Amino acid sequence: MNKEQLWEKFAEVFTKLDLKKGIYAAPGRVNLIGEHTDYNDGFVLPMAIEKEITMLAQLRNDQQVKIYSLDYDKLVEFDLLDLSYDKTNIWVNYLKGVLTELQKVEQQLQGVNLMFTGNIPQGSGLSSSAALEVATALAITDLNNIELNGVEMALLAQRAENNFVGVQCGIMDQYISRLGQKDQALLIDCRSNEYELVPFANPDYQIVICNSKVERGLVDSEYNQRRQECNQAVKFFQAKENSSIQALRDLKLATVEQYKADLPANVYKRAHHVVSENERVLASKEALAQNEMLQFGKLMNASHLSLSRDYEVSCSELDILVEIAQKEGAAGARMTGAGFGGCTVNLVKKEAVAEFTAAIKKEYKKRTNLSADVYVSNPGPGARKL
Ligand code: GLA
Repeated sequence: MNKEQLWEKFAEVFTKLDLKKGIYAAPGRVNLIGEHTDYNDGFVLPMAIEKEITMLAQLRNDQQVKIYSLDYDKLVEFDLLDLSYDKTNIWVNYLKGVLTELQKVEQQLQGVNLMFTGNIPQGSGLSSSAALEVATALAITDLNNIELNGVEMALLAQRAENNFVGVQCGIMDQYISRLGQKDQALLIDCRSNEYELVPFANPDYQIVICNSKVERGLVDSEYNQRRQECNQAVKFFQAKENSSIQALRDLKLATVEQYKADLPANVYKRAHHVVSENERVLASKEALAQNEMLQFGKLMNASHLSLSRDYEVSCSELDILVEIAQKEGAAGARMTGAGFGGCTVNLVKKEAVAEFTAAIKKEYKKRTNLSADVYVSNPGPGARKL
């Protein structure tokens, strides 16, 4: 649907009002490299993808919020003074979480009518929920004249997810959805929350995303457990090495190796992944700046191995997808996002994309009996008012 058609639909669903309105968009993301580093104060290198949530919004005269999900064809209503968890419509909680956090910033929010639609596949690790949070935050702040800069808005959306939805995610997904830029990946320093642009408009190579179609099962419990193991490692190194160590970001790989025998095996492996992954992100930035795409591909492959063996967040289907991709000539392939299902990200020669796509679908089906989806995306723009 184009903009006019969306507004027509909006007018069908909601009573006509003469109040401030707007249309907003926020994209999903794919992380090129730097997995499970964001909550360790480390580095990540994601890009926004050309798939997004589009949200139409108009203020109301009262304290009611009415949200219409076009894709679910479902209307949900509640009062701004009663933001309780919705056990039936799970998606509503991303919006309620943002409203709750916004009410901490600005107590006098006005009621609102919202309608949204999107084309980011859900449950596939491409951050459709972060996009929904960011689109909501952008719409509500704009309509209520609340001033939040990009980083503040990303942090607010992250708090919505941490506090209301109950997932202890890091900052990456909301950050890139809010601040992504066309033709650029962002090197984000998750300690300072600053970023550097890393141009990614290569004439020869294409980012190809493969969806394993395995819905990320164990993700929440395992995710929180990995965070705990990382904290355990930090405490260990504080005691042994230096009390000023705040996060795994502050460690060198040599130090991790030095204590291998003293650390519980799982904690050693988690620390090894995070510390080596941070190095790979910084090396990737250099490789991309020098246009050394094969080198970048090698770093992606190494990242996958580390996530699979040391961080243990892959699954057999993701490993198979990566294996096929490498066999079919991808310069680099790795799982992307939290893991336990979802997508892989692949660096493929442009001229080979069609052949690569066909081979992935065929071989993956043969080995898993699942039908992979394949998306080609360039870095798209971050959240904006349309
Ligand atoms: C999820 C989280 C992010 C990040 C990744 C793993 O997408 O939301 O904050 O931790 O997993 O890199």
